[in-house]
Amino acid sequence: MVKAVVAGAAGGIGQPLSLLLKTCPLITELALYDVVNSLGVAADLSHISTPAKVTGYLPPDDGGKKAMKDADIIVIPAGIPRKPGMTRDDLFNINAGIVKGLIEIIAEVAPKAYILIISNPVNSTVPIAAEVLKAKGVFNAQRLFGVTTLDIVRAETFIAEASGNKSVQSINIPVIGGHSGETIVPLFSQAKPSFSVDDEKLAALVNRVQFGGDEVVKAKDGAGSATLSMAYAGFRFAEKVLRAMNGEKGIVEPSFVYLQGVPGGEEIYKATGCDFFSVPIELGTNGAEKALNPLTNLTDKEQTLLKACTEALGGHIKKGVTFANSAP
Ligand code: NAD
Ligand code: LMR
Repeated sequence: MVKAVVAGAAGGIGQPLSLLLKTCPLITELALYDVVNSLGVAADLSHISTPAKVTGYLPPDDGGKKAMKDADIIVIPAGIPRKPGMTRDDLFNINAGIVKGLIEIIAEVAPKAYILIISNPVNSTVPIAAEVLKAKGVFNAQRLFGVTTLDIVRAETFIAEASGNKSVQSINIPVIGGHSGETIVPLFSQAKPSFSVDDEKLAALVNRVQFGGDEVVKAKDGAGSATLSMAYAGFRFAEKVLRAMNGEKGIVEPSFVYLQGVPGGEEIYKATGCDFFSVPIELGTNGAEKALNPLTNLTDKEQTLLKACTEALGGHIKKGVTFANSAP
């Protein structure tokens, strides 16, 4: 029996993500929570002939607590998206409070749940979640994940386009660091199958992965940011967590985690100075079972990208930690 929850289920990401989760045979119960329209989304999805029983909840009558009670996995895409001209950090003032509130509920009613945070700015919202869970005495770093899968999905797609590789789903590339602009570090030198282009094309590809989100925000022209590709990416990560929970071995996917709480993370923490960092994570029945160190064979250009990443990321993390510890 696996209970999954989507918090922010009526939104641009939440609806297609909930649809994909409804199709997943590993889930037996799917609870949809939002401040608006979650009952409608739940009624709609409940007619699909797959095993998961779907329920919807709104805030009145402790709807948040009822939705999340005893959940095994909770995916959080709640919060406002960017408009053209905004950075992800411009979302902090609203989304920080939304994530804090949801994590407080989770700490109370589902302290053992795997928590997957999509809400931006991920570089700060994940540290907020960790601090809230720590304050409530229920923090388990192996179960808290910032979802950075969309950066990997983009890198795979752009490699396939640039190399003419028709089997895009066989491409594997670690994208590490954080989830905004220069904190996103794609390691093209570690792509499999190996991939090489001239320096100018490589720089353009790195830039496109780092700023892929802006491309979508610009194209949507005020109507929000990536939703469908994010739903795909969020589902891909959630499904891997669920398969690993179920005992499947050898599942690795990068995620933004608290390094010092995940086996193998300490040495990456020492090398980067960042408490939270996205690295390839081996998933297992305990969640994040091992952080794999991708820093040993970086090219000079990747070292330069890493330096820019760590310089910016430290401030984003600190902002989240400070907020969590000072907000009422
Ligand atoms: P959206 O506005 O379409 O949907 C957000 C939903 O959250 C809305 O339905 C809203 O009612 C709900 N919500 C707000 N406060 C809530 C609360 N307290 N509890 C429950 N639900 C609440 O936005 P979207 O396009 O779905 O994007 C959501 C978030 O995901 C944004 O912050 C966006 O920046 C982020 N995002 C992250 C990634 C990533 O790679 N991690 C990718 C794309 C978008
Ligand atoms: C993305 O990478 O598409 C998301 O983080 C949304 C955004 O604001 O760009």
